[in-house]
Amino acid sequence: MNLIGKNIDHAAALLKAGGLVAIPTETVYGLAAHALQADAILKIFAAKNRPHFNPLIAHTNSWEKAQQFIGSYPPLAQQLAEAFWPGPLTLLLPRASHLPDLLTAGSPLVAIRIPSHPLTLALLEKLDFPLAAPSANPSGYISPTTPAHVADQLGDKVAYILDGGPTEIGIESTIIGFNEKGEAVLYRLGGLSLEEIEAISGPLHMLPQVQNQPDSPGQLKSHYAPRTPLVMDEAIPPKQMITQVGALRFQQPISTIPISQQIVLSPKGDLGEAAKKLFAALRELDVRGYDLILAERFPDMGLGRAINDRLERAQHKFKED
Ligand code: TXA
Ligand code: MG
Repeated sequence: MNLIGKNIDHAAALLKAGGLVAIPTETVYGLAAHALQADAILKIFAAKNRPHFNPLIAHTNSWEKAQQFIGSYPPLAQQLAEAFWPGPLTLLLPRASHLPDLLTAGSPLVAIRIPSHPLTLALLEKLDFPLAAPSANPSGYISPTTPAHVADQLGDKVAYILDGGPTEIGIESTIIGFNEKGEAVLYRLGGLSLEEIEAISGPLHMLPQVQNQPDSPGQLKSHYAPRTPLVMDEAIPPKQMITQVGALRFQQPISTIPISQQIVLSPKGDLGEAAKKLFAALRELDVRGYDLILAERFPDMGLGRAINDRLERAQHKFKED
């Protein structure tokens, strides 16, 4: 059997046996394992070199199945699930006691999502257990949006990569939790815009963005980062550096850098198109070996907010070094 293919039965057999399979979703590729088997979950942490304190999202294919893994939940949780699942939304809900502690890293909450991808929904339909799946990249690096991205970095660690083509949305799910009044709290910006969520939830509560003990470790400051140092373009680089600088742009190239060193994500100004292409473009700029990647700040609306969030986290490492 090839490493990459579309064989759902093969993927299901590997997962039942406790193996690791990369799965397509509409956001990014996930590194999936049996979410009720601690040994299988441990393989995810080892393959990604991910700290055990960082909990995983449980993926399933119906609200009925999801309810087996949670305790009592606020009415708004069900409204959001009905409005946006399958889709790029993860809900943090009180966990059922039979879930492995490793899945939730000891938290009383479990992250749950029904992804919107026909192959993965068909796979989940065949399984009587949820799939634990973080993004299928080494911890801290850019999330994968194609099977090739997964194969490049984790090809020797996964048993199979289910090929669902390039991902539609391209940026990880938006994570929503609830406060004691049952009101929605934003834990991570992502592929579902705040505008869409707030149309149902009313104004979202925000978590403080920078924390030493993050409630959502996706909030760790250095994350989603290429190896090449990245800065956002408030600061134009000095002229002598220009030949070694790559630029990531929204609609138009910047005049101070040769066009061949730039990637423009959406000439027509579509933030959805930009989000979809963002991670592949960052990977491409990273392998070209520039000294610096200069990233434009995107409009602070719709998916532009999530794009800016990922770019800000990518640049933090550079500032700290
Ligand atoms: O789009 C996505 O969400 C993708 C696809 C594969 O579904 N998955 C993904 O997983 O991005 P990951 O592990 O890379 O990011 C999940 C985030 C992490 O930052 C984790 O800390 C947070 O969800 N999380 C999971 N369970 C949590 C919990 N119980 N409390 C707080 N945060 C949690
Ligand atoms: Mg991730």
